[in-house]
Amino acid sequence: MDEQSAELFEKIRQQFDSAPYPSTPLEQNPKDSHDLLYAHNLVTAYYLRNQSLISTDGKVILDAGCGTGFKSLVLATANPGAKIVGIDLSKEAVDLARQRLQFYGFENAEFIVASIEVLPALGMEFDYINCDEVLYLLPDIAQGLQIMKAALKPDGIIRANLHSATQRVDYFRAQQVFKLMGLMDSNPEEMEIEIAKETFGALEDWVNLKNKVWNSRASQNVVVEKERILMNFLFQGDKGYTIADLFTALRSADLEFISMVNWRDWEILDLFKDADDLPIFWAMSLPEVSTEQRLQLFELLHPISRLLDFWCGHPDQTNAFTPIADWSEDEWKTAKVRLHPQLKNSKLREELVESIEKHQPFNLSGYLPGQANTAVILESTVAATLLPLWDEPQSIAALMERSRQIQPLNPATLEPRTPTAVLNDVMALVTRLEVFLYVLLEKP
Ligand SMILES: C[S@@+](CC[C@H](N)C(=O)[O-])C[C@H]1O[C@@H](n2cnc3c(N)ncnc32)[C@H](O)[C@@H]1O
Repeated sequence: MDEQSAELFEKIRQQFDSAPYPSTPLEQNPKDSHDLLYAHNLVTAYYLRNQSLISTDGKVILDAGCGTGFKSLVLATANPGAKIVGIDLSKEAVDLARQRLQFYGFENAEFIVASIEVLPALGMEFDYINCDEVLYLLPDIAQGLQIMKAALKPDGIIRANLHSATQRVDYFRAQQVFKLMGLMDSNPEEMEIEIAKETFGALEDWVNLKNKVWNSRASQNVVVEKERILMNFLFQGDKGYTIADLFTALRSADLEFISMVNWRDWEILDLFKDADDLPIFWAMSLPEVSTEQRLQLFELLHPISRLLDFWCGHPDQTNAFTPIADWSEDEWKTAKVRLHPQLKNSKLREELVESIEKHQPFNLSGYLPGQANTAVILESTVAATLLPLWDEPQSIAALMERSRQIQPLNPATLEPRTPTAVLNDVMALVTRLEVFLYVLLEKP
């Protein structure tokens, strides 16, 4: 490490020793944080890459730059039977992480005070590496990815993220202001936080920077407010990247992109008023452009995500699979349908049964992330068709039979529903749910 990087490394360590992140209280249990559990469940990334399921039992998961371990706890909760290893360069943060997992009774967890750079020396291999809100702090993102890749099992998956240079541009301007004022020369603490607060308080509300990053964003919670100021305006080592930077780093580390973590929010077609009636140039070009270019276009048109949050893995680990939209009828008939493990809980089942019995629609996207502005609402007879999935995986034939029993007649003609009509309805339902991985399909 050169002198400048070593100095920055030390500033980052000091910052997180004096203000371990996140400040999430020990008592905050993520068991109902469906979005977080879904993203941190190994099944989600694995299915996206391979269209097949994986058992989390016995898997070894690294939380690289674990901080105070809230995400380590999410990983432990979302992946039953997995071992969690957390490393972080801040001793204060690691102590809290260890305490947090003990508090919830996760014995199969180990926390180490170490820098990501020394990962190879640990001599461990991982099925999954979570590197959340850390990669952008490293001096060289490609090198950081390479180090993690070296500790990744052949079919393992890395989840990492970068701050978006485009979305966060105003925050980088604010950091520049406070750097110029010398507030980041040494470790920013109470006094520097107070000066940042006073600065924004004293500026006119119409000042561009204040308007962009400060107005109406304050939290009433003092601890959260301090953390917000530190992690946005006085964040040592914070840097922004673009989609192009991300793909360049992946190529340089010889890693294969799998998907954005919030892939539903990166769909370029959603940015058009009518995706079925695109300007001819776009209609002809879009099917030809690469994943990288599609994401780049999205980033330029609508940079709303603070993080470029992605999954990647060793090259050539993807099973060749056919998207279900292209399946033949025979493929459908042999498939098994499972619920995403994060949906399979008794509370959800009880609420589903209640809404079926009251003939009320059921909002599935209230439980797992769907897509912004698109709620997935199931009409009660449709929800009833799916109910056996809470007991065990179902064949398409079993779902068809249940659908036929619930609704034997075509409501328009009062004739019995034909097998083709029933199959088409079940396929349409499963397809609609698989988009968000609410259900997962397996072929024998
Ligand atoms: C913004 S926090 C994120 C914590 C946690 N991953 C989360 O998302 O809640 C960044 C963490 O990365 C750690 N960190 C920064 N550079 C590191 C490095 N080179 N090796 C290990 N940890 C590092 C910091 O100490 C800090 O705890």
